[in-house]
Amino acid sequence: MQRWNLLTKAIFRLKVTDNPAEFQALRRALKGRIGAVYTMGALHEGHLSLVSRARAENDAVVATLFVNPTQFAQNEDLSRYPRTLEHDLEAFERAGVSLLLTPTPETMYPSGYQTSITVEKVTQGLEGAHRPGHFVGVATVVAKLFNLTLPDRAYFGQKDAQQVVVVRQMARDLNFPLEIIVCPTVREADGLAMSSRNAFLTAPQRQAASVLYRGLQAAGEVYTRGERATARLIDAAYQVIAAEPLAEIDYIALNDPRTLAPIVEATDAPVLLSLVARIGTPRLLDNCLLPLELNNLQALTRLLGGT
Ligand code: PAJ
Repeated sequence: MQRWNLLTKAIFRLKVTDNPAEFQALRRALKGRIGAVYTMGALHEGHLSLVSRARAENDAVVATLFVNPTQFAQNEDLSRYPRTLEHDLEAFERAGVSLLLTPTPETMYPSGYQTSITVEKVTQGLEGAHRPGHFVGVATVVAKLFNLTLPDRAYFGQKDAQQVVVVRQMARDLNFPLEIIVCPTVREADGLAMSSRNAFLTAPQRQAASVLYRGLQAAGEVYTRGERATARLIDAAYQVIAAEPLAEIDYIALNDPRTLAPIVEATDAPVLLSLVARIGTPRLLDNCLLPLELNNLQALTRLLGGT
């Protein structure tokens, strides 16, 4: 790792270090407004859209690449998580990142480490209910990454909507002086949300996977025609996805985007439609705000992000 970093520094403008203390010192030397992007690597256009937005709005962009073990459960795909370091370094450099931290689990959680952050209500439903402990791992690592990167603005993807609501709650509760910007989900041509885990899909599964997006669209169309009843909106998505033999639905849910409280009464206020389906081994996540016109950076940041 160390030799590769030296080599990288010589070739690219991007400065890379795997040492958190060294990173923090380099970060402090940067001037002006700083945008930050946090990733687990295996970069795709979704990640890079966050970087490009961060570049447009700040004087410099810092990023992190860390497959955080504490947000994976025992039975989850930590060891299989795709790792494409060489490609990622080049992509970060090309996208204009100034400084990248690529820490190891040993430097992030050295022996004797004993602190974790639990965010209460917003972690209880949706992914939190299916992945016990996941959001403790996420909130804790993001708090550490906030302290290491000291950003004015932190960029997150709509793709993981609950994650950004959890992070915003943690940032508010712990007085992190930063703004959270939420960037719209970047999709493949057929609508499938880009995800590092899509690499695990076989060709027929990959073809079937666009059904999640078609389910969201179906609910969006019904909403546009005036339907507000929770069960009917969910059913519109359900009918489309259930018709795909390779898809096994985990959940489809309608929540208040600000609090993630389940929607019970029909409402004209914006709602978050989330769905998760298993196609083969991978669990695929997708979501959209209803009405569909709200799936843009400004509305997403207002409802899911902010300060
Ligand atoms: P990762 O899955 O690598 O995602 C990094 C960031 O990219 C997250 O903010 C995620 O929401 C965003 N992202 C992923 N796919 C996207 C897409 N198709 N369109 C737009 N944005 C997308 O999320 C994590 O890593 C981790 O939990 C992390 C925040 C780094 C903490 O470990």
